Amino acid sequence: MESISFASGSTYFNTPLVAANAAVQAIQQNRTFYGLAAGTDELRAAITHRYEHFNKIVISPENILVTPGTRQALYNVLHTILKPGDEVIIPAPNWFGLHEVLQQLQAKLIIVPTTAADDYALSPEVLQNYISPRTRLFLYSNPNNPTGRVYQLAEISSWLKVLNHYPEIYILADEIYDLVVYAGPITSLQELPDPGQKHIVVNGFSKAFAMSGWRVGYLITPPPLFAACLQFQKATFSGVSEFVQSAALEVLQHAPEILSGFNSVLRQNKDTMSQFFQQVQLPFTPPQATYYLFPDLTAYLRKTITSTQQLANYLKENFALEIMPGDYFGTPGYARLSFGLSPKNLEEGLNRLQKALPTLL
Ligand SMILES: Cc1ncc(COP(=O)(O)O)c(C=O)c1O
Repeated sequence: MESISFASGSTYFNTPLVAANAAVQAIQQNRTFYGLAAGTDELRAAITHRYEHFNKIVISPENILVTPGTRQALYNVLHTILKPGDEVIIPAPNWFGLHEVLQQLQAKLIIVPTTAADDYALSPEVLQNYISPRTRLFLYSNPNNPTGRVYQLAEISSWLKVLNHYPEIYILADEIYDLVVYAGPITSLQELPDPGQKHIVVNGFSKAFAMSGWRVGYLITPPPLFAACLQFQKATFSGVSEFVQSAALEVLQHAPEILSGFNSVLRQNKDTMSQFFQQVQLPFTPPQATYYLFPDLTAYLRKTITSTQQLANYLKENFALEIMPGDYFGTPGYARLSFGLSPKNLEEGLNRLQKALPTLL
């Protein structure tokens, strides 16, 4: 039986052909040498226009560093601002990659649990309780991976009200899913006033534009931090390949058409998967963004299978079906299932799950 994966972080879409063509053309034009470490002027300007178009804000291209992926943007800026032992506050559930990168830097992760019962809200009072003299960073993903929760202006402002009392604490928003949305645009951290020059955003092309293998993302930092991040990139990597940047530029120039094509399939898939979980009566919070559902599977953890990790192994071995256990996101008992599959594979995967669930009781 062919394996079906609900566990992947990429969708089934191919990279848009316009991007592939732009890269081929750039290679044929010999754009294959060292370029500017910060990124090409064209791509940095296009990223500025993207924020004007989708968020109605102006970001100076001077503050944008093109990086080899969002993971690397995170590593760059975290390496630049953190010392071993510094504390980083992160609301959970959250993407395991954040933990991985912080481990590399020996920073101390301070997890703030949020719950489905509270719609994964984080109150400023709770945030305040987690701040210590060692806190150097508050880090959140918006939209959230794995819950698909979107934090809007009022909620982010309430956190900033607390954090603005601490000039030594930076605020970092990982906004990589910001264009995979079903309920209107998200609020970028860049939209909020930054009197202390502490707001940092990372983003990339892997998710919304189906370009995870191209390794291209970016970092937006206030000027004092920018120089240090640029120096880190120069010293460790040089710049992102220019033909890769040509592909990224091209998708930004066609963003509205590309996104409406991808997101309309994803919206239908979201409805299909949501209906399934409603029908089998497994609770989940409807995602406002991303291509993930994060259901509570504890009702099925009963007999010999008592954790979502064991459940994931069981589904893989017996039904050739892969899911991501919630343990990876700091929420045991839950699992992340991607609906970024072809509609045919989504249906087949849900059929297998339908067969598997009664065998667990
Ligand atoms: C929240 C989040 N940030 C960053 C990344 C990594 O992105 P990139 O492929 O640009 O390195 C992922 C990928 O899964 C993610 O889910």
